[in-house]
Amino acid sequence: MNRTRHDGPLIVGAGLAGLSAALEAAKAGVKVLVVTPEPLLNACSSAWAQGGMAAALTAQDSAERHAKDTEAAGAGLVEPSAARALTGAGRETVEWLAALGAPFDRDADGGFVVSLEAAHSVPRVARVGGDGAGRAILSAVVAAVRAEKRIEVWDDARLKGLLRDADGRVVGAVVVRGGRLVEITATAVVLATGGAGGLFAATTTPAALKGEGMALAARAGAEILDPEFVQFHPTAIDAGLDPAPLATEALRGEGARLIDGEGRFLLGDESDADLKPRDVVARAVHAARAEGRGAFLDARTAIGEAFPHEFPAVFAACMRRGLDPRVSPIPVMAACHYHMGGIAADADGRTTVPGLYAVGECAATGVHGANRLASNSLLEAAAFGRRAGVAAALETGGGRPAPVEIAPDLPNAAMAELRTAMTAHAGVVRDAEGLSALIALIDRLEGQHGPAAVLLAARLIAQAALDRRESRGGHYRSDYPQTAARADHTRVRITRRAALEAAE
Ligand code: SIN
Repeated sequence: MNRTRHDGPLIVGAGLAGLSAALEAAKAGVKVLVVTPEPLLNACSSAWAQGGMAAALTAQDSAERHAKDTEAAGAGLVEPSAARALTGAGRETVEWLAALGAPFDRDADGGFVVSLEAAHSVPRVARVGGDGAGRAILSAVVAAVRAEKRIEVWDDARLKGLLRDADGRVVGAVVVRGGRLVEITATAVVLATGGAGGLFAATTTPAALKGEGMALAARAGAEILDPEFVQFHPTAIDAGLDPAPLATEALRGEGARLIDGEGRFLLGDESDADLKPRDVVARAVHAARAEGRGAFLDARTAIGEAFPHEFPAVFAACMRRGLDPRVSPIPVMAACHYHMGGIAADADGRTTVPGLYAVGECAATGVHGANRLASNSLLEAAAFGRRAGVAAALETGGGRPAPVEIAPDLPNAAMAELRTAMTAHAGVVRDAEGLSALIALIDRLEGQHGPAAVLLAARLIAQAALDRRESRGGHYRSDYPQTAARADHTRVRITRRAALEAAE
């Protein structure tokens, strides 16, 4: 094991959340080390975001209205103060990114062009180049990171464990770099490791994101909040690709319609029927496919010839598979898209473990509840990422790290088996029988291959889904279709390996 001491915060992950944290920490005057397994802009969900960044930017909108929509989407589990902290930072965050060079679409008067997405009561998603928001925004942030001398980036290092001192404080991390384990001690660790889409066979997110940050934080004693809440996007393009390319919800905002193989509307005739909350639409798509009717997004009338310049990323993805959305409806399926649950954290990224911060999709800050409002995640990544950077810069570190056990990786064949079972049993529609079979599989894989972090991540999701005997937001149980009168969070802490206990 190589050892290195970094005198400043260590940021694990280089999506929008991690790099926003890095920029603010560096601005506060400390040295920042960012570790990520891939070159910047690769393998992070923020770069793939199509829709844009939700923020109250128009005269008809307000931060309060945005917060109310966020709460309504979250099905009783959004923390009002977190939602207000998020939406109150909307304009400032978009302007910060624009000042870094993010080329948001502008109208003739220089205002931000905003589009409508599902469950927003007004158009409020600031977009870039139609459907290219994520990559364009992250490119601007990456350029700022590269120009900042206080930030060092290792783009070939993968997280393997978190270091704690004798008091339980997180004091660094172990990464694997160039085939060798490296122990890095730091003043604080900010996890920005992304979501868990790679645990599912059908996903719109980079397959490398498998919930390992959440699992390793849990092993380090951090509380995990609501891990069962996974969002499935209704319009992943079903063209045999892994991950599945996304057909942004903004297409439906522009009037594209969901139809079955016979041309019947999936969700009814009303013009806004397809802009119902994402979980409702995802279930309709899932049901149509399960019944053999097929599900398609028909953009021929609403967008037609404008498709290539209004939605260039979706157009290119379709054309790569020989699908021309100007002349044929796009075959779609529901696929894992976002993990609302994760490492419990406040708006500054503080977790329940001293020295450990979590930001972006790996964190559960209470803003998404049971169902994330579309395009709130890029806002959360940048706004709360920045806050975490400021907070982490003030940390001064702890004691000597205790030895940490390094979890084994899961072999590819076992990973494929797990992903298939996660989509089948912890996907859009769940029940006790399927979730129990999934947990039995996780037990078996753990027996065969040891306690891989991906298995713990999958277990956290599956066990909480089995224990939640109701349907709420993104979590739908066919054996418990009702929503309970009282909305309760799931809080999980690991007290010993593979034994999960409710903390509350
Ligand atoms: C989309 O563009 O449909 C996805 C936006 C989001 O998930 O926030």
